[in-house]
Parts: sequence; C-alpha cells; structure tokens
Amino acid sequence: MKIEIALESGFCYGVKSAVTKTIEIAKKEKNVYTYGQLIHNAQALEYLNSFGVNTTDNIEDAIGGTLIIRSHGVKKDIYDKVKLLDINLIDATCPFVKKIHKIVYKYYKDGYQVFIVGNKNHPEVIGINGWCENTAIIVDDNSIINANNSQKSIVVAQTTITLELFNKAVEKIANNVKNLIIHNTICSATTKRQNSANELSKRVDFMIVIGGKNSSNTKKLYQICKKNCNNSLHIEIADEIMVTNIKKYDKIGITAGASTPDWVINQVIDKIENEGEGTNSGK
Ligand code: F3S
Repeated sequence: MKIEIALESGFCYGVKSAVTKTIEIAKKEKNVYTYGQLIHNAQALEYLNSFGVNTTDNIEDAIGGTLIIRSHGVKKDIYDKVKLLDINLIDATCPFVKKIHKIVYKYYKDGYQVFIVGNKNHPEVIGINGWCENTAIIVDDNSIINANNSQKSIVVAQTTITLELFNKAVEKIANNVKNLIIHNTICSATTKRQNSANELSKRVDFMIVIGGKNSSNTKKLYQICKKNCNNSLHIEIADEIMVTNIKKYDKIGITAGASTPDWVINQVIDKIENEGEGTNSGK
C-alpha cells in the first residue's frame, strides 16, 4: 500500500501566518482572544486553546487584553471600535483579503457600486462588505441582478470561489451595468489545492480528504475527489479511518483543506503506516 500526499494541501499562506502569529502572541500575553474562530478546525482550535487562546464574538471581552483578527478579515467598523476601546489589536487578516478591502474602500469612496461574487453568509464576504458600508450587491450562483445601469461599478471575488462562478457572475453583472471594473481577487491557493486534489484523485484507489466537517473548502475538495474516485472519504481526524477497510487498496491519496494543521495530516499518515504497512511517497 502506497500513500501519496497532494502537492498542495493543508494550511494556506494566510491561515499559516494567522496561526503562527496567534501562538507567538499567546506565549507572551495573557487574555488573548480571536475575533471569531481563527480557523474552521476543531483540533487546531483545541491546540490554540492549550496556549490560552480564547474565541469571542464580543469585542468587549478583549478589553485589557489582545484581540486577533483572523485571516478572513473584518468590517472597517470593527477596527474603529477596537481603537475606541483601546484594545491591543493583532491584525492577522490575510494580505490577499486586505487587498480586497483596500480596493473596495477606494472605489466605494469614489462613488462606485460594489459587487462581491461569493457567499453572503461567509465571514470574509461580510467583512469585505463592511468596507463599503454594507452597500455591496452580493452575487452567487442563483442571483438575479437588478442594478442601476448607469452607475459605475466594480466587482471583486470572495477569495475561495471558483473561476467558473466568478466568470458566470461577471457576465451577468456586465449585462446589467455599463461601466464595470473587474478585479479577479480569487486566491490561487484554493485553485492550486483543488487542481492538486483533482490530479491525485484520478490516480489512486482510495482518496482521503482531511478537514473540518464545516469547512467549505474541504467539502469542495471532497466533491472534486469523489467525482474522480468513488472511494473517497472525508475525515476530520485519524481515528475516523478504519485501516482494515482500506488495506486492500494499492494507492492511497491524501489531501487536506486550508485549515487542516500539518500535525493532523501526519497523524493520519502515521495511522495508515503503522496499522496498514503503508509507505509514504511524500508530496
Ligand atoms: Fe489568504 Fe488565500 Fe488562504 S486568501 S487565507 S492565502 S486561501
């Protein structure tokens, strides 16, 4: 039995940097809070909690302590509130998301209508919308655009959507709006991870996708793998694998969502290697 790990899998740049910053701060400071869950992964949250990192949705909890903004980013008024309350702020917003905030803020101030292609309930989209005073028109797969034809407009993307959805949405918007500036702000980490999973799942007999059950990028990876390899399994932790059931397969592929820590991936590999005599051919 051979194990192969997708070339691109696990933590993306933004998440890795947010987790590293958080641990560094928690080692030095007390009363460290992340504003919302830093990442959608129960094991990673437990690990952070072991350093004394708490999660809160209430900024006031961090008065006298430190508040960490996660990689998804937040609305502008959160920064204003934190400043007013004199809370120590550590901004771990991913630079790619930060760039979207800047674009949206600039064009909004210049009188543009902002369109965001993405999921209106996703924290990243809620954050972006907060940089144009929540006036953005949020477009997803099923949206019907009802915009003012003559208003100059700009469109950006939630970083984790597919290019296919972005292109479809832009076409719809462009049909309704005369002057549209297009900023494709999709992050390549997602596409690279998806392409890697797509490629690997075509070549293996069994595919394991590791990541939070509520992580949308992990669910997407699972869908991609399942299309190519019917024997695909979405797990959060190593304990969910019954190695005796997969021993019969020659090639096992592994990929992991953007919020899956390396140590969780390694536990899965160790379990297969120890119980199933698998050999890891690496990335
Ligand atoms: Fe940043 Fe891309 Fe990750 S936007 S948080 S590096 S998926």
